[in-house]
Amino acid sequence: MHSPLLALCAALALLAPPARALLLSATLPRSLAAPASAAASVAAEAPASTFSTFAKDMHTPCPIPAAGIAAATALMESGRLYRYNSPSPAECPVCEVEERLKAYTGHRHCLALNSCGSALYLSLLTAGAKPGDKVATNAFTFGAVPSAIWHAGGEPVYLETADNYVVCPDTLEATLAREEAKGEPVRFLMLSHMRGKIADLPRVAAICKARGVVLLEDCAHSLGVTFDGEHTGHRALSCGVSSQAYKMLNSGEGGFLLTNDAEVYAKAMVYAGCYENLMSKHRDAPPQSVFDKIDVLSIPNLSLRMHGVTAACITPQIDTLDARIKRYNERYARVEKAIRAMDGVRSVPVQLPQVGIVGDSIQFDVLGGANGLRNVEEADRFLELAKERGVTMGRFGHP
Ligand SMILES: Cc1ncc(COP(=O)(O)O)c(C=O)c1O
Repeated sequence: MHSPLLALCAALALLAPPARALLLSATLPRSLAAPASAAASVAAEAPASTFSTFAKDMHTPCPIPAAGIAAATALMESGRLYRYNSPSPAECPVCEVEERLKAYTGHRHCLALNSCGSALYLSLLTAGAKPGDKVATNAFTFGAVPSAIWHAGGEPVYLETADNYVVCPDTLEATLAREEAKGEPVRFLMLSHMRGKIADLPRVAAICKARGVVLLEDCAHSLGVTFDGEHTGHRALSCGVSSQAYKMLNSGEGGFLLTNDAEVYAKAMVYAGCYENLMSKHRDAPPQSVFDKIDVLSIPNLSLRMHGVTAACITPQIDTLDARIKRYNERYARVEKAIRAMDGVRSVPVQLPQVGIVGDSIQFDVLGGANGLRNVEEADRFLELAKERGVTMGRFGHP
């Protein structure tokens, strides 16, 4: 099992090219590799001034492209910020971003929302989750995921994580069997692709199918990540994508529910706040026959719609996803090589060969004990020393 105590994570997507070169050619070799190990760097306590530092604040997200700023400004000038206030679906920026994102991921339907947490919540509701239902999910994920389960009234059942940070199919199988034997079967799996790390999706999907468990995917960290050439989120009934500031799309806040199921999409529209005859204001409006199959009047309006300005900020970022992913992955390969060369590093998780990665952040495990960081204090000191050099890293499981 993966030890969260000494797993470290650094964001790479936020490094602009010139500064990144400094990180790789100077900061990494001199601050991290000169002491040649995480432990030695703590023991040496060398003053930060002797090292090159990385100047950019790694928590600064990518700026909104000029086209996004212009579209947002024009929208504000028009006053038509509410998605259902656009003169027509063809002119609606929220419809536009939905079309563009679903073209990117290959899903049939996309609903823009105020966050990915809302998308996960609606994934559960539209899949039929009821209060008290058991929902399995990764133990290693972000709090928004069990929070979405809580929001839907579900009971999370946590799955341990393997060394490569993903849910192990054998653990999944054993957990589902255990809960079934208790007479309290798990009804849903909310599989979180935490940090873009992808489990053995075909096996996970097959296990869920065999046991009647509905698979849902949290793609907050996996926009652009593929499995066997297919974008993530297609094995599930529906999935959520985030455009919160630290993701591949940045609108500060925002999210999307994507699905290939017209009924799920129609229900999600109504839950999100598409009321009365507003369905016709969607560019992708399901036919009446789909709404006839769902009890629209029994669905509450939860007001989870995306704001027009949010959509305007996101749309031009979709165009640059592939080029950015290429750059991030080249950078990832270089940083990964340097980290692997450090003494004291136990592992950098390796993804399955079927996965097309997005290297916007990097994680690694450091050794504990005599040859590594001996305790939590040393781990924290290591992080402090990295921070003094401008490299922000986190220790998993600890704020
Ligand atoms: C793994 C994971 N899932 C879901 C979410 C929820 O995304 P949002 O902030 O858009 O609600 C986050 C947020 O950072 C996340 O890290």
